[in-house]
Amino acid sequence: MKKIEISTFLTIYDSVNELPTDVQELVKYAAEARKTAYAPYSNFKVGVALLLENGKLISGSNQENAAYPSGICAERVAIWKAASDYPNVKVLKLLITASSNNKIVDSPVSPCGSCRQTLFEYESKQDELIEIYFMGETGKIFKTDSLKDLLPLAFSKILL
Ligand code: THU
Repeated sequence: MKKIEISTFLTIYDSVNELPTDVQELVKYAAEARKTAYAPYSNFKVGVALLLENGKLISGSNQENAAYPSGICAERVAIWKAASDYPNVKVLKLLITASSNNKIVDSPVSPCGSCRQTLFEYESKQDELIEIYFMGETGKIFKTDSLKDLLPLAFSKILL
């Protein structure tokens, strides 16, 4: 028996100004998407922007439901929009931002486990890494170079 350590990488940006120009565009696009969230139960609004290989931007926001588990996160709205409208176009970058009606969200909001698993499948399928940037409404921005850094030991289709 042995115990091993699994490590992961995170890049931390202090402000939006430090981000590459194309990612600054994603911040603006995702902040607009946040306004389209339907979040009357949590009052927590999440906006996502994706950059596709063909240069198109795709947005998504969380959509809640009175039957709570029927609601869906912004990340899955965005990736499924992209997969449905542009099935064979690679996703290069994804940015997540969130705000709350109850307080200022000034620390990065990371994707939930189900969204990580969903995004991981699309990253594996396209055979190119997806850069994930995540932030609150203000404050630092965290970045991972791949879903592999967010979901070590992911369940993968190669196991089926
Ligand atoms: N939510 C997202 O849209 N993305 C995340 O990464 C975390 C949570 C949504 C789901 C729900 O509508 C609200 O935020 C509160 O959990």
